[in-house]
Amino acid sequence: MSSLDYPALIAALGPAALRFDVDAVAECESTNTLLLDRAETGAPSGLVILADSQSAGRGRRGRSWYGAPGDSLTFSLLWRFPPASTAPAALSLAVGVGLARALRHLGCADLRLKWPNDLLIGTRKLGGVLVELQSGNVRGAVIGIGLNLRRPADMPAEVVALATSLHEAGVNPSREVVLATCLADLAAVFDTYAESGFAALREEWMAAHAHQGQLVNISGSGAELSGRCMGVDADGALLLQTAGGLERVLAGDVSLRPFGGE
Ligand code: BTN
Repeated sequence: MSSLDYPALIAALGPAALRFDVDAVAECESTNTLLLDRAETGAPSGLVILADSQSAGRGRRGRSWYGAPGDSLTFSLLWRFPPASTAPAALSLAVGVGLARALRHLGCADLRLKWPNDLLIGTRKLGGVLVELQSGNVRGAVIGIGLNLRRPADMPAEVVALATSLHEAGVNPSREVVLATCLADLAAVFDTYAESGFAALREEWMAAHAHQGQLVNISGSGAELSGRCMGVDADGALLLQTAGGLERVLAGDVSLRPFGGE
């Protein structure tokens, strides 16, 4: 059984508690995998699975996700959207807007978003998001979120220099308060998204964009691309001003160009 304090969670959720049902488990392979299975058998919108630890946590682009019990918050949220409102790229960016709001509400002033939806403090990664859509036409999205609360003692060497945590930013709320704040802010953002699409959230995303106006490289999307980040469009594509004109980037990893010249 998980050590999640349910009364503390419900108190922190306030009125938003009516919109969520949180199932906390001690361990599973991946909360996204578990929740996708539940979604297929008709689980309702608002179901959340939180795990103290995952044996095979998954990240974007087939990577694995490392989290340590007690030091990480790892959960997945099922949300069912009206038909035609779940363009995956744009939904993924909307999640970033919700989490950026939540982290600011928790006192994390310097939160930045790296396209499509990494959460950064400075240049280091605080958390990540993996959005997966349920198969068929039911419009259920499983939104998996991993946040570093503290830096675990046994963090893998390849992640140490790239990662940060809320604790290192001087932000130390309980796991229950972090979860409740994320859920309440995500629900508000999803209401806007369902009604007006990502277009209504785009300016807010760009205001938090870590690489707005900067020179970057894009890898992992076929041909390597280089250019200046001009923001994102209403479908969630990254707009890159390249030597050959404005490109819409739909997939890939962004990295800062080491020696800036055009
Ligand atoms: C990334 O940055 O690559 C995305 C990481 C997403 C990790 C979370 S942890 C909870 C949920 N379950 C998973 O297996 N992955 C997501």
